[in-house]
Amino acid sequence: MPQMSALTELYKEIERCQDCELAKHRTRVVPGEGSEEADLLFIGEAPGWHEDQQGRPFVGPAGQFLDELLSSIGLKRNQVYIANVIKCRPPGNRDPAPSEIQACSKWLDLQIELIRPKMIVTLGRYSMARYFPNQSISKIHGTTKKEANIIYYAMYHPAAALHQGSLRQVIGNDMLKIPQILAQADNLTETQPESKQLSLF
Ligand code: URA
Repeated sequence: MPQMSALTELYKEIERCQDCELAKHRTRVVPGEGSEEADLLFIGEAPGWHEDQQGRPFVGPAGQFLDELLSSIGLKRNQVYIANVIKCRPPGNRDPAPSEIQACSKWLDLQIELIRPKMIVTLGRYSMARYFPNQSISKIHGTTKKEANIIYYAMYHPAAALHQGSLRQVIGNDMLKIPQILAQADNLTETQPESKQLSLF
């Protein structure tokens, strides 16, 4: 029998998870998918109806736009990794509760440990909140920070463009910056935590 990869083993664990209410409502768990060797990891919010049916992330209308965005920088889904903050669909697509985000957070941490991406792209406010707490997406979209050798980059959620057409171009432009950032990943200096910056003065 071929050996299961660590990520595939992790999927089995995630599929058994009963650590929050959402487990009762799901059709399928949506752990994430893509290359285990991906340099680029995209993190969305939570599965919607289509994702819950198929057990795959970003397969509905927002996913179609994400595919287009990836193709604009010459990438296919299987060359990156795509995950969500929450692995099960909140009923009626409601916002995930803080306790659900907390309960699910360990899975994304483990995925990141296994994949070790060079760059994490947050899509929308829930994944942005993990890495850019208390920031506003309208201010920081398209900007980077680097911590512990990972570049974090905030983007609007692709679904935002489906509701507000003017964001389509903003999102498209932010996506187009990614290849250059990635190419210079090793030269980018680490972002100093605010407390350290302040102590310089
Ligand atoms: N929106 C998300 O944030 N994630 C998905 O997987 C699908 C839509």
